[in-house]
Amino acid sequence: MKITNICCIGAGYVGGPTMAVIAQKCPHIKVTVVDLNEQRIAKWNDADVENIPVYEPGLSNIVAQSRGKNLFFSTEVDKAIEEAQLIFISVNTPTKTYGSGKGMAADLKYIELCARQIARVSKDNKIVVEKSTLPVRTAEAIKNILDHTGNGVQFQILSNPEFLAEGTAVDDLLNPDRVLIGGDTTPEGQNAIQSLVEVYSNWVPKERILTTNIWSSELSKLTANAFLAQRVSSINALSELCEKTGADVSEVAKAIGMDSRIGSKFLKASVGFGGSCFQKDILNLVYISKSFGLHEVADYWEQVIIMNDHQKRRFAKNIIKTLYNTVSGKKIAFLGWSFKKDTNDTRESAAIYVADDLISEQANIAVFDPKVEEKQILNDLNTLESRTDEKNAKGIQTYNNAYEACSNAHAIAVLTEWDEFKTYDWQKIYDGMLKPAFVFDGRNLLDKNKLEKIGFVYQAIGS
Ligand code: NAD
Ligand code: UGA
Repeated sequence: MKITNICCIGAGYVGGPTMAVIAQKCPHIKVTVVDLNEQRIAKWNDADVENIPVYEPGLSNIVAQSRGKNLFFSTEVDKAIEEAQLIFISVNTPTKTYGSGKGMAADLKYIELCARQIARVSKDNKIVVEKSTLPVRTAEAIKNILDHTGNGVQFQILSNPEFLAEGTAVDDLLNPDRVLIGGDTTPEGQNAIQSLVEVYSNWVPKERILTTNIWSSELSKLTANAFLAQRVSSINALSELCEKTGADVSEVAKAIGMDSRIGSKFLKASVGFGGSCFQKDILNLVYISKSFGLHEVADYWEQVIIMNDHQKRRFAKNIIKTLYNTVSGKKIAFLGWSFKKDTNDTRESAAIYVADDLISEQANIAVFDPKVEEKQILNDLNTLESRTDEKNAKGIQTYNNAYEACSNAHAIAVLTEWDEFKTYDWQKIYDGMLKPAFVFDGRNLLDKNKLEKIGFVYQAIGS
């Protein structure tokens, strides 16, 4: 089937950027991104394209090129489904917070709702594409719903997991290492795969488009995230050993990364990985393994999460210990709140957990992040079971300017590796702080020699 009309359900960090790139590269295809969240859709449609709800370098340009031509954002979900030949499901699949599998399994209620809606609305044959990250064999459940509640319409289900990383989404989408498409081995399944291959072929070289059976595709997505997160936990585990032995984790990372079998990427020690996916997807893998009785497999992957939690808590503990075992009433400035640079996403950011620990010790946290709003920071803390609005109002304040956030502070904690932090006038920051002035660099971002020369007491992760 030659695709000329695509719908994407979910206008989030994946649906928005992915569809903007498809629309740009396929001007002959009408792409409609729909969402239940009216506010989010209104932002995607904001006359000032800089106000779109997802911050990604280069994204506003791409949206501006196609919006209103062949790229549309709408809350009319039924209409978009009805008109489309191919429907991407790109809704959130968070960790379950209730019932069986609480805290581990993926919550598939949004996926199920989409499947039911597609079944109810569709009047002609459609290809349904899993873009969300899902437990292996979810396609079976989707197919069941579509086949049993539909109007006699034929559906083909494909798995087309997304590998973009936030902060580099546009580049990852324009030049992907690979595009993975899984489908049924039947002739109908192969035809559906081919239709989606043709869409991507508009800009992705054929040899980078990998087709597999549907279960391999679903499992490969969880596996890719588990392997990436494992590297971060591996280097973070060694960062603690480096601190005890006098080795320097950046030097160790460089030395091992130059071995082409190991490779140099994803070896940056940090205050811990964050983001909406690594933890969720590994917990999901652990849960699936347990449900098959594979306890050793489950324990193996769970250790990646245990190490990550330890790294976040360890960072907070170190701040408290270094500040003479008490942070009560002390102002500690946080540079950065998002889970990595170049994104306004704060989901599972290490900063949330470090702040939680320090506020529990009665510290006053002063946050500056170039792209995160105050409302979001308070929301993040309020989702923690340990926090309520009232407690947070006492423990945290946000600033529009890093110099003010650091003024009269005892210490600075670098939580996100925003490039602009490197360019600050650090002498000026030092002059405004209480002495001794401490910097706890959770990202190994700043120049140790320069800061020590100014007079800072500087501590980086892993050295
Ligand atoms: P998100 O929360 O930013 O966006 C999901 C959107 O879906 C929300 O705006 C929500 O309102 C909407 N939605 C939920 N149910 C709906 C329904 N029934 N009808 C219409 N809209 C509905 O999530 P995200 O970060 O874009 O992630 C989406 C999926 O992609 C997840 O499964 C995630 O694991 C996966 N993924 C995310 C990333 C990433 O970097 N964020 C990368 C690869 C894969
Ligand atoms: C990750 C994967 O990289 C994407 O391929 C995948 O599509 C996505 O998850 C997903 O499924 O959602 P993302 O979470 O957006 O992307 O960002 P990453 O660049 O992977 O960073 C994750 C976390 O690890 C961040 O907090 C980052 O600071 C941290 N990290 C990363 C380190 O601490 N050290 C490193 O060397 C690399």
